[in-house]
This record gives sequence, C-alpha cells and structure tokens, in this order.
Amino acid sequence: MYRLVGTRGGMNVLGISGSPRRGKTTDQLVQHVLAATGRESEFISLAGKKIAPCSACMACVKDNICKIDDDMGLLREKILTADGLVIGAPNFFSALNALSHCFLERLCQFRHRDCQALAGKHVVIVSTGGIEPEVPAVMIEKMLSYYQINHVGTVTAQGVASCFTCGQGETCTTGAVHTLYGEGVKITDNLIPDLSKQPDKIARARGLGQKLGKLLEVAM
Ligand SMILES: Cc1cc2nc3c(=O)[nH]c(=O)nc-3n(C[C@H](O)[C@H](O)[C@H](O)COP(=O)(O)O)c2cc1C
Repeated sequence: MYRLVGTRGGMNVLGISGSPRRGKTTDQLVQHVLAATGRESEFISLAGKKIAPCSACMACVKDNICKIDDDMGLLREKILTADGLVIGAPNFFSALNALSHCFLERLCQFRHRDCQALAGKHVVIVSTGGIEPEVPAVMIEKMLSYYQINHVGTVTAQGVASCFTCGQGETCTTGAVHTLYGEGVKITDNLIPDLSKQPDKIARARGLGQKLGKLLEVAM
C-alpha cells in the first residue's frame, strides 16, 4: 500500500464549492456545514479558478502528482492536509456543472499504485439545483467512490435559477420559471427560491457539519 507521508494536518476541514456564482446557494450551504463542524475550516470557491479537465496524460502515475499547471496545484495540497471535506456543486443541464466535474476528474492523480492519500477522510456532499437539486450529489458520490473516503451524508437545496432574474423569466417558455410554475406566472419575492426559505435544508447542513465535527474529534 502507498500513502503520501507528512500530509496530514490537525483535523481541519476544507469546504469547496464548485458553483461559478459566488455567495449563492451552493456556497452558502457549504459554509453552513463548515460553521457547524466546530473545527478549523477553510472555504474555497472554484469560481474564477482555472481547473482544466483531466487530460489522461497519465504523468501522475509515477508520483500521484498531476502535472497540469493550473489552480488545482494549490487545491491539491489543501485537500491532502484536510481531514474533513465538504464538496458542493450545482446542477447544470441535469448533470454536475463542468467546473466541479473538472475538479473531481483531477483527483484521478490519487488513484494510482494503491494510493491511500485520501483514504479515511470524511466528506459531506452538498448539491443544489433550480429544479433537481439532488442530481450533482449522485455524481459527486460516484466520483469520490474510488478513494476510500467516508461519506458522512448529503444535503441538497433548491437554488435560484438565473431565469428568475434574467428579465425574461415570465415570458420565456423554455426557462426554469415556466418549467416550475407554468404560463402566466408573475415573479414575486415570494416565488424566488432562496436558502433562507428552506430552514429544513439549513438544519440538515448544520446537522451534517456537527456529525463531521464529531467524527474528527473521535479521530484525534
Ligand atoms: C447553465 C445552467 C444550466 C442549468 N441547468 C439546470 C438543470 O438542468 N436542472 C436544474 O435543476 N437546475 C439547473 N440550473 C440551475 C442551477 O442548478 C441553480 O441555479 C443553482 O442554484 C446554481 O447554484 P448556485 O446558486 O450555487 O449558483 C442551471 C443553471 C445554469 C446556469
């Protein structure tokens, strides 16, 4: 078995949101989980980060280090140091959004030669969508299933689709507003989804954060 040595820090938690929109539902939900852990934590938004897809060059086989020179390099070190992870992504086109997918693809560097670098870490999955918030979670769980990471739990919440604010939402028949409410809909504040209107989701996020915090306490 191969394990990267000297990579573990002091039971800290790293939260990563793959939403390209800063401060929206995915970010907020990841931050609720982090806050409830009671542990030292860091939040990183992938918005604006340059993370290329895995190029299948296999240059990482010999040392478990991806050779693509982009922002994943910094994240790699932080992931290795963290004992708890909170990974969140939004649903784009009934799939994981591309930025999050690229990030998760690049964990492939930890798959070679029985690498155990991520084994035993604990992860909470955060998943959002305008209509189907649970879709990204399925994919994140699958993509993490190769690393012996303990899945603590998943929280999903409805985010606000851009169609509520693009200015065309009431008349556009192909957008999310029509899909959700049909023809003749008037967009009012009441109608616009917001995490603050989903206290059960916030409670679940915080509950998972507490569970993650306890797991890390036991592991110390
Ligand atoms: C390009 C694009 C495609 C989307 N496709 C879907 C979709 O297929 N299903 C869905 O439920 N939501 C879809 N959404 C809505 C987002 O999942 C939703 O706005 C979510 O809240 C985004 O996360 P954020 O609030 O953290 O930015 C899409 C949004 C964008 C920008």
